[in-house]
Amino acid sequence: MALESKKKEIVEYCLRNKILITPTLLSQVQSIEELKLKLNINSKTANLVIAESNHDQKSSVFGSGTVDILYNYSLEPKKKTIQDFINYFRSRFNSIQSILLQRQELSNASSISRIKQKTSREKSSFIAMISEKQITKNHHVILSLEDVTGVIKCLVSKDSPIKSFAEDLIDDDIIGVTGFPSQSGLFFVDNIFLPDLPIPQFSKKCPDDVCCAVISDLQIGAEDFMEAQFKNFILWLRGEYGSDDERELSKKVLYLLIVGDSVDGVGIFPGQELRLSIKDIDEQYKILASYLLMIPPHIQIFLSVGNHDASRLSEPQPPLLKRFQEHFSNVKNIVFVSNPSLLNIHKTSSFSGYKFLLYHGCSYFYYAENVPSLKNSAPKIHDRPPFVMKFLLQRRHLAPTYTSWLYMPEDVDGLVINDIPDFFVSGHLHRPASITYKGVTIICSSCWQPQNEYQKKQGHEPLPGIVPVVHFRDNVVSFIDFSGGVK
Ligand SMILES: [Fe+2]
Repeated sequence: MALESKKKEIVEYCLRNKILITPTLLSQVQSIEELKLKLNINSKTANLVIAESNHDQKSSVFGSGTVDILYNYSLEPKKKTIQDFINYFRSRFNSIQSILLQRQELSNASSISRIKQKTSREKSSFIAMISEKQITKNHHVILSLEDVTGVIKCLVSKDSPIKSFAEDLIDDDIIGVTGFPSQSGLFFVDNIFLPDLPIPQFSKKCPDDVCCAVISDLQIGAEDFMEAQFKNFILWLRGEYGSDDERELSKKVLYLLIVGDSVDGVGIFPGQELRLSIKDIDEQYKILASYLLMIPPHIQIFLSVGNHDASRLSEPQPPLLKRFQEHFSNVKNIVFVSNPSLLNIHKTSSFSGYKFLLYHGCSYFYYAENVPSLKNSAPKIHDRPPFVMKFLLQRRHLAPTYTSWLYMPEDVDGLVINDIPDFFVSGHLHRPASITYKGVTIICSSCWQPQNEYQKKQGHEPLPGIVPVVHFRDNVVSFIDFSGGVK
């Protein structure tokens, strides 16, 4: 077939499938198959494709920044032994102990074995992990605390000003304690310290007017994936959707974070297959890749994983398995990162960058349901995650309680929050929100799936299709609604 006729065929194919093809791309492809390959499209996504970006290159306009990946779990799996569990808990204890020791009140902290040897009622302090918490019939709080030297029972009186604070403590919390030992062996607590965050000394501001969008829980493959709304989000990133102001804003977006559950996966929960429109996980990721391919190349995409993704469930979760990463070979602006991961974004000659802690959020339900003050923070569980995230920042750990989620014991506990982020972003609970705590901006992202029957029964009300956007220059978060009223 003559070249001209081939080109005509390609143009007709594009018209039929609502593909806007630019002259440059048309000159680069010789057949429809080549076009499909280049765009990584299939029949399910063909009608969403807009070939090539018509954006200007933003980096020259807004100043190009670099992204440093400060934490990205990537250890090869190996058989675990009891020693791995011991190393894991010791690593966590040592990390959090070193944070607590910076407090003046704990600078002379002793060990539990020494505390137990004391014969006089002198003021003492120590650092330990909670192995058990009990509330007595008389409403006192009894804590069993342990370090590597021993175990001690501690009492927080029902009349103590820290009694409700003590009631919020959870198993495996690592805390600093001050108080008085007694002849009976019981330690009377007068104060308790969490590792917490320090008071920020200054507020960081980026000189460049650039933005970062945060999404998660696309659940591609689910029959109710909000395809049309997500397409509008992609169009917005291309400057082709939204009000004039929203289009102007989209030009500033240089970074996109996808914080897990970008696909619905397969076999995640009983009966899921009945609710999937795409039952093959490879196909789900191929469709995701076809969407991401449409994002202008100057936007750097970081894709993390969640409990629906092709990665093990135990945390830290490594990045998406290599076999599935291959589906994204045409997406040149994507980086695969672990859950959790820590990124330093937009480092320039005049700005040190913002640190973003990405964590999908699988542990949050446990704390939202079991911690008294978190239960009272909002009537419905889906409104509690920002407060859970604050609670976890105070503990400097993403899932401190052994049973709050699955974990993989490694020599270093990757869920400890050693490095204080500027932004702490999560998904999983399907409702957007943002609060700040001691200089850290906490962001919950939305989802791209309306309320399903299971969520209805649980009383969960998602707010889908709403995208948090971080404005670097002003250090604020705004939300853009792509839902079209769908809930
Ligand atoms: Fe999730």
